Amino acid sequence: MSRMPTLSATEIRSDRLLLRTALRDTDREGFVEFSTDPEVQAYLVGPSPRSEAEQRFDVVFAADPAPRRGNFVIADLATDRFLGTLMLAGRATDRPGHVVEDGEELELGYVLRRDAWGVGYAFEAAAVVLWAAAGELPDQPVVLVTQSANGRSMKLAARLGFRPVRTFEAYGAEQTLCAAPLGAFRG
Ligand SMILES: CC(C)(COP(=O)(O)OP(=O)(O)OC[C@H]1O[C@@H](n2cnc3c(N)ncnc32)[C@H](O)[C@@H]1OP(=O)(O)O)[C@@H](O)C(=O)NCCC(=O)NCCS
Repeated sequence: MSRMPTLSATEIRSDRLLLRTALRDTDREGFVEFSTDPEVQAYLVGPSPRSEAEQRFDVVFAADPAPRRGNFVIADLATDRFLGTLMLAGRATDRPGHVVEDGEELELGYVLRRDAWGVGYAFEAAAVVLWAAAGELPDQPVVLVTQSANGRSMKLAARLGFRPVRTFEAYGAEQTLCAAPLGAFRG
């Protein structure tokens, strides 16, 4: 687990969303669904068997929530329905894809369940978290690594203001490393 400072907030609200570090038992169905969905997992690790997804939920649910700082559930603000997850936390130095030599940068990552695509939720969630982080943390590079073939993710990265830095091969596919200065998200 990274020790890199990230957002201290445990809840952030936007027009339509509640971002919360707390994982609730009611999140189980959505978590298992997006972990087992071949379309959602197409450019990630691939779909998990249901039993594995259930087990992973149990482990995260039972764990101390303090180290989850920077790892948010994206929930519907009105109903608290689980829509996905968003992470803004240190990218481990031993993973490929960095813009700071020997460094650990803040990394943005996002996953929405399939029925939450196409209505701007990922953009809204990422924008509000980056804005909050820019108000709390010193300016620094934020990285985002996505498979080059992941059109939706590449489009979202560009709309948020991330620029491609380079491509590299990892996990059996071409990845694009994108970066943006955190300071660019200050209001
Ligand atoms: C990557 C991912 C989060 C993108 O989801 P998304 O819904 O396409 O992203 P956005 O939130 O930017 O929404 C954009 C779409 O919402 C539409 N939209 C509707 N209302 C909107 C609003 N108020 N604001 C912004 N966009 C809006 C846009 O026109 C766009 O539509 P399109 O799909 O027809 O182009 C999603 O595809 C996903 O979870 N993929 C699997 C996980 C993954 O691959 N993650 C990448 C690893 S970092």
